[in-house]
Amino acid sequence: MSAAHPELRPPGPKPLPFIGNLFDVPKNNPWLVIDEWFKRYGRSNSNLYIQYILLNFPYTGDLVYYDVFGQGYLLIGSYEKARDILEKRSSIYSSRPRMNMAYGPWWRRHRRAFHEHFNPTISARYQPVQLREARLFARRLLVLEDSNELMHHIRHSFAATIMDVTYGYKVAEKNDPVIEIVEEAQNGFAQTAYPGRFLVDIIPLLRYILAWMPGAKFQRLAKYWKEKTRIMIDIPYEEVKAKVENGTATACIATSMIQRLPNTNDPTYTDEDTIRRNATGVAFGAGADTTVSTIHTFFCAMAMYPEVQKKAQREIDHVVGSARLPDFGDKNSLPYINAIIKESLRWQNVFPLST
Ligand code: HEM
Repeated sequence: MSAAHPELRPPGPKPLPFIGNLFDVPKNNPWLVIDEWFKRYGRSNSNLYIQYILLNFPYTGDLVYYDVFGQGYLLIGSYEKARDILEKRSSIYSSRPRMNMAYGPWWRRHRRAFHEHFNPTISARYQPVQLREARLFARRLLVLEDSNELMHHIRHSFAATIMDVTYGYKVAEKNDPVIEIVEEAQNGFAQTAYPGRFLVDIIPLLRYILAWMPGAKFQRLAKYWKEKTRIMIDIPYEEVKAKVENGTATACIATSMIQRLPNTNDPTYTDEDTIRRNATGVAFGAGADTTVSTIHTFFCAMAMYPEVQKKAQREIDHVVGSARLPDFGDKNSLPYINAIIKESLRWQNVFPLST
């Protein structure tokens, strides 16, 4: 957003002339600093409140504002406020910040392609793969000799699920080359996807600074991560494409997307191919770390609260019994397990800042 009029500005750290809050923008663990800001500035001041009501402006409470070089940032600190601003008034406030380090201009078309295959109805189709990998995971836990292997098995299980659903790709048990590249590329995204973390998100002209110039570390990092991301996106997609061409492709999202590509001499071919390639590539990038971290939280919670673990086990024993393993059909009969899953997502939030 452009900078708010000073009198209507929601509270926030005091800006300096011209550079605004450049030096206040947190570089590491920004959510901790932002949490402090909410404690310090997040309450509405009654004068502003009256002005806001008169203007039908939702800028009261749970909001912190800062700006850098005239580029304003509004932080929203509660679900209610986020709904009020982003859902109820979405026509005015739902535009995205320009994040030159993380987003490009095709965002909406990619989003459409992705959502076609990852929405609540369609994702039920992926349950057999999820179930198979969950059971393999449970078996690996049973024979676990070294607790350090737990992390590896968690990561492997999610990687195997997403790569199979997306590309029909069977991940190697250890040191899978594709997984290693993906992890490196993901690391890049984690460091860029926070507005204001890189000056180029604030001053787009910096994009044109040459990579060797002092202060252009972001250019070199962007180049490195871009290469890794490109490999992550291309290798599995190209493999599926070759299989579609020689008739050996198995059912997966990439196969279905590639089969519906326009003819290679169609003028839309290159764009359509790029969007499908990227939409499949993002599944692993966005879906692996988030899920893995959530399961880490779950194991941590079970270790810290054994009484919860016992209660959960009692529910499974009561509903499922000991003759079979739980499956998706049991979901609605396991309210306590469902609550634990929701709490694992909430307790140690994987993605404390969204944009
Ligand atoms: C515990 C698991 C997950 C959590 C907590 C999570 C969280 C989030 C959050 C907070 C966002 C919004 C980011 C932003 O706009 O700043 C997001 C976006 C996204 N997530 Fe997830 N996610 C999870 C699993 C997944 C999985 C499994 C996939 C893919 C298979 C996925 C794919 C995506 C994609 C593609 C976006 C961008 C959507 C868009 O901008 O339209 N996520 N996720």
